[in-house]
Amino acid sequence: MIFLCCLLYANLVVAQNIKSTVSEKEHFVSGLMKRMTLEEKVGQLWQVAGGFATGPDGSNLGSLKVIAEGRIGSVLNVSGVKNIRKYQEAAMQSRLKIPLIFGMDVIHGFRTGFPIPLGEAASFDLALIQKGARWTGTAAAAAGLNWTFAPMVDIGWDARWGRVLEGAGEDPFYGSQVAVARVKGLQGDNLSNTNTIMACVKHFAGYGAPIAGKDYNSVDMSMGHFANFYMPPYKAAAEAGAATFMSAFNDFNNIPSTANPFLLRKLLKEKWNFKGFVVSDWGSVGELINHRVAADKKEAAIKAISAGLDMEMVSNCYFENLVDLVKEKKVSIKVVDDAVRRILNKKFELGLFEDPFRYCDENREKETVESASSREIARSISERSIVLLKKSDNILPFRKDLNSIALIGPLAKSKKDMCGAWSTANVNNVITLYEAMKNRGVEVNYAEGYDLGNNKIVNYDSTLSAVEKSDVVVVAIGERASESGEMRSKTDISIAAQQQELVSRLIKTGKPVVVLLMCGRPVIFNEVRDKAPNILLTWWLGSEAGPAICNVLWGDYIPSGKLPMTFPRNMGQVPINYQYKSTGRPYPGDWAAKYIDSPVEPAYPFGYGQSYTSFKYSNLKLISDNLGKGVHAKISVDVTNIGQYDGEEVVQLYIRDEAASVTRPVKELKGFKKIKLKKGMTQTVVFDIRDDQLGFYDNNINFVVEKGDFTIMVGGDSENLNKTLFSLK
Ligand code: NOJ
Repeated sequence: MIFLCCLLYANLVVAQNIKSTVSEKEHFVSGLMKRMTLEEKVGQLWQVAGGFATGPDGSNLGSLKVIAEGRIGSVLNVSGVKNIRKYQEAAMQSRLKIPLIFGMDVIHGFRTGFPIPLGEAASFDLALIQKGARWTGTAAAAAGLNWTFAPMVDIGWDARWGRVLEGAGEDPFYGSQVAVARVKGLQGDNLSNTNTIMACVKHFAGYGAPIAGKDYNSVDMSMGHFANFYMPPYKAAAEAGAATFMSAFNDFNNIPSTANPFLLRKLLKEKWNFKGFVVSDWGSVGELINHRVAADKKEAAIKAISAGLDMEMVSNCYFENLVDLVKEKKVSIKVVDDAVRRILNKKFELGLFEDPFRYCDENREKETVESASSREIARSISERSIVLLKKSDNILPFRKDLNSIALIGPLAKSKKDMCGAWSTANVNNVITLYEAMKNRGVEVNYAEGYDLGNNKIVNYDSTLSAVEKSDVVVVAIGERASESGEMRSKTDISIAAQQQELVSRLIKTGKPVVVLLMCGRPVIFNEVRDKAPNILLTWWLGSEAGPAICNVLWGDYIPSGKLPMTFPRNMGQVPINYQYKSTGRPYPGDWAAKYIDSPVEPAYPFGYGQSYTSFKYSNLKLISDNLGKGVHAKISVDVTNIGQYDGEEVVQLYIRDEAASVTRPVKELKGFKKIKLKKGMTQTVVFDIRDDQLGFYDNNINFVVEKGDFTIMVGGDSENLNKTLFSLK
């Protein structure tokens, strides 16, 4: 015993005096593993819920006693230095004093709430997205956390699935870049810094494509489809150095992801050489029984660990069975050791062996969480997340001397709904639109307009009197925060008819009307879309929702957001995406892929978003001589700000492969640049054309580039595009 302690101490001393180089880490972790009992090893593979449950059956397990026995490796859903210290102290009572890692769903800001991730993705501003994630990571780390279950990189084409809120939308190219920005932001340069946390890429794989848009439902797709449309963001995030992955709830090719050796071992760990560890989703090892691929917990444990699932979240199949399974030789110790090593490596990289309490500094917590600068960045992301969907009169931006506003709708006053799903925001510190307008010194005549709970028009008389007293009407419609997110699938994503009717009535009063759409997913709102002169999509923006919306209304920030998901016209169009395939009978035409009772065109296409100013695209040209360095060609296009305001534009590059060995989409986003342009000015924007933009994955997940013709398209959204041709010889 004394000998063991000495050895461990020696290792700890080594850890203290070193930087985390690979060999030192290996040396330390190998030394530690030699001293671990099988029970202690299995303990490292279990994560239990502390504070609160984010799934079923998760309360009883975070026992300090079991932690002190060294039988738990990680705790989720505890935050705050004081709480975390308590759990870590229990771990320090265990024989080998292996520290816990603390994880939580820190998804969009921490205490200072940022826009929902789908909204943030509308900014098309990767540097800002990375900066936002950096802040989120810094604040979470200051509250004692080492790990967030983010980013969610699942591609979503089906807005019935409420979790589209948590991703970057429908496009694999853009989704990959956002995934990288979020991973880099959360993890910073070095995990051992006390202001960084581990990212967890989720949900591997294909969780964004549940059949019928029903959360947790089965997923079924061909390998070629997966590889080209769903896989790229996972791969990009792994290559960006994400420390961990989470397996998805759904099955994939008839095998639940949590026990899927193809996904976890072959693709992630072998083909992509991923060195981190994989955690299950909440209870999903136990749920292998519900999937009916395991008869009991024992079989569930065998299947998951053999497939490469390293840490079990909440359910206790490993905890109860793995020791026996190794003794019975049904699971090889090598498989267990590999999982343990991966987890201990990350604990080492976080510096937790050096000092298990290094993330527990109450002063740092006080100074960092909800700091003034976190609010500044929240506001600037929020402004850039807003998408101007329609502007057909001259009321926007508001004149600086505007006297009075009729502000209608409970969402304008709701702090809670502005936080959105998966929020860690301090609700009390949210500034609502109502408060922000008042702070501007304008006269605000508020009326509820409709009841958000049952969507009835209420007190119409007082709404009318607010309108009569005011110069303009601003009406906020949309969803409650509880309507989008996990477990929030809907069969109808329309904005309630009564809310839309209220807008129509307000328009009839003859006062200028601005509609604000506050929601967590693409929604259908045809009546408003047709009739309202001005529509701003504001999503749920978090703590600085009010000031950000005001800044856009008054033109202190000229809106520049673009839709990261297609907005459908009706439910029959869902799932819908812009990068569909030609088919043998392409639309338009009589015998074509279309509907007889609806246009095929969406309400708003991917990449769409207006500005108070406008941009003209011209002079699209191919430059293709002697370029070298893997660049086949360059294209250039002139973008001119022809409107009345300085503004920003997301210049988008789409490519179509004209003939390939497999069917390819009609167009795919392959580049974009967000530019700032003063009114009257022109900028020439240049894009490279490289292999990675021209190629695709074949049905065996090999990336291939084929010679031939490509159509190159550039414009301000996925439909209004200038075109030219390029041939790869
Ligand atoms: C279930 C969700 O699917 C996952 O994204 C989340 O991280 C876990 N619960 C933990 O809360």
